[in-house]
Amino acid sequence: MNTSPDQEHQEHQERLHALRQLLHTYAHQYYVLDAPQVPDAEYDRLFQELQALEAAHPDWVTPDSPTQRVGGKPLEQFAPVRHARPMLSIRTETDTEPSGARSFDARIRKELGLGDADPAVDYVAEPKFDGLAMSLRYENGVLVQAATRGDGETGEDVTQNIRTIKQIPLRLPAEAPAILEVRGEVYMRRDAFDALNARQRQRIADGEKGEKTFVNPRNTAAGAVRQLDPNTTTQRPLSFFAYGLGEVTPPEQGGPDFATHTNLLQTLKSWGFPVTDLVEQARGASELIAYHTRIGALRDQLPFDIDGVVYKVNRLDLQQKLGFVSREPRWAVAHKYPAQEQLTTVLAIDVQVGRTGKLTPVAKLAPVFVGNVTVTNATLHNEDEARRKDVRVGDTVVVRRAGDVIPEVVSVLPAADPAARGPVFAMPQQCPVCGSATVREEDEADYRCTGGLYCSAQRKQAILHFAQRRAVEVEGLGDKLVDQLVDGGLIQTLPDLYRVDVAALAALDRMAEKSAQNVRDALEKSKQTTLARFLFGLGIRHVGESTAKVLARHFGQLDAIMHATPEQLCAVEDVGPIVAQSIHTFFQQPHNREVVAQLRACGLSWAEHTPSVAPPKPLAGKTFVLTGTLPTLSRDQAKDMLEAAGAKVSGSVSKKTDYVVAGTEAGSKLDKAHALGVAVLDEAGLLEMLQGLPADGPLLPE
Ligand code: IVH
Repeated sequence: MNTSPDQEHQEHQERLHALRQLLHTYAHQYYVLDAPQVPDAEYDRLFQELQALEAAHPDWVTPDSPTQRVGGKPLEQFAPVRHARPMLSIRTETDTEPSGARSFDARIRKELGLGDADPAVDYVAEPKFDGLAMSLRYENGVLVQAATRGDGETGEDVTQNIRTIKQIPLRLPAEAPAILEVRGEVYMRRDAFDALNARQRQRIADGEKGEKTFVNPRNTAAGAVRQLDPNTTTQRPLSFFAYGLGEVTPPEQGGPDFATHTNLLQTLKSWGFPVTDLVEQARGASELIAYHTRIGALRDQLPFDIDGVVYKVNRLDLQQKLGFVSREPRWAVAHKYPAQEQLTTVLAIDVQVGRTGKLTPVAKLAPVFVGNVTVTNATLHNEDEARRKDVRVGDTVVVRRAGDVIPEVVSVLPAADPAARGPVFAMPQQCPVCGSATVREEDEADYRCTGGLYCSAQRKQAILHFAQRRAVEVEGLGDKLVDQLVDGGLIQTLPDLYRVDVAALAALDRMAEKSAQNVRDALEKSKQTTLARFLFGLGIRHVGESTAKVLARHFGQLDAIMHATPEQLCAVEDVGPIVAQSIHTFFQQPHNREVVAQLRACGLSWAEHTPSVAPPKPLAGKTFVLTGTLPTLSRDQAKDMLEAAGAKVSGSVSKKTDYVVAGTEAGSKLDKAHALGVAVLDEAGLLEMLQGLPADGPLLPE
């Protein structure tokens, strides 16, 4: 069939529009809804098709095309933007206790002239995102300008950089008003921040000049937005949440007429803007307090940093009535949480020796309350990090503790008297514990002590690792006891642990006949174990708990694993060449084989089976989170059963979680499951699900 140039022209144009529409939809599903409907490869294919069409017809390229998010030219400087409506700040409630919400409610009630008999005020509570405020201006449905807050009156034009944020729509659906300014927060997710810093560390290790690691997600986001070259911004993935409006076409001219803030947020969501699921309506002070507490408990598990919550009066007519005091609205307040960063001084820099001999510099700090605990130690990771941050004794430093993450020194303040600072950190040439030489392997950031099990620090850690709950579990064997056993020369090698008698134990500090007998009993009890626990306990590099379980299931017998070639090991699910080599090398060492033989001679044993064909994995690909106390199953039993059925058991709830199994006293994880709409099971539901599955292996605990 012949097509005329005109016809072809028209077909191209139609295809171009169809592609843009599809790509907008898919990108929204992927970046905003977190629910992609097509494989990434399909998106990429359509994207490339659009790029090719636009390359053939450069005059058809419009600023709202999905291809136009990246690649603008570097700027000389940012142009000033006068905000059509000022960007306000919010008053901060100084009291970080949950009860701080009460004074806000009391103020609002007074301003509105409400008495005790009047009903509770309707509020909206939202997280206070720790990023930077942004105003996005759309004209006739197309993003025309993005501006920072600046001084609230005048900000900077950062449109090029903001276009790189895939969550921000470049074009709005037809029902959006002719003029729409959306206000919200640009931020960086914690996982994006960690990945970025991991890349930075690699660059630095590769010797790239002028690179440094980033301090925290907020500063990184702010820095990324203020890059003159948008190509740099693209390398620093940002996200966005909408929480308010600036100038909008008034209702008289066909613009929207929102009755409430909730209403406004829902509409922004329907137009394609990301709005957090954590927004809640709250009636009166008590529900604000409950929200502050609940989000506070979730804080560490959220995928992004927040520094508090924000309360807003829900009805917009009441907001108007309440008005402003000196550029702060009377109808909103920020209610903070305790800070996750604080200043303190470095008292000393110690070097700790880990189980594998890894040396870690640790800053000893003047005690400081941060992230809800008192911190006295912060890791400096390795020599390069310590030098790059240039942390020295006497320095004033910023320490950060977010969530359960170990506290970190993020930066050093300039010293008042540089001459009074301690020396530049250098890793010692000798192990601070055993005096053996330390080495840094090529391409590695870490130094190691070469003492192996000669080094008492490594021996202690190896023993504690073997005795831990998830390994063979020797109840009551803590670090103080191990210190005494090793330092007193009672234990030279791991098998010696099973040879100490009650009398020797009872002679130790803070031990008596009874406690010594308890430890002895615990040692006896630990001898009957499982192959997976034993393997994990040996502390083979790269063999964590889950790898140990897979190996045990695959081979069934320790001897089979000890004699396996790297190729045979590689055949195991999730075992790659590095792990395979590490296992092989471990069992090649005569002293490791000797340790295993002696442990067996001491009576350690486990059930073995002939390797069977892999059992079916009916829950493969499903992610579960366990929370609270289940009526009959222990946490570990439930985890084992789920893993045996192929499920993944994760520690935190996200949109990717398929089921939350909740027992009594389930806390924030259950709240989060409800907030995210994740299915919740109780123990009976879990057992029913497991029993309903086609299983030929034992799924229930023996
Ligand atoms: S509302 C009129 N909502 O906090 C109120 N602000 O001083 C305008 N922020 O820099 C702001 N999360 O960027 C609002 N859910 C939220 C917020 C939020 C973070 C930031 C905002 C501004 C500061 C307020």
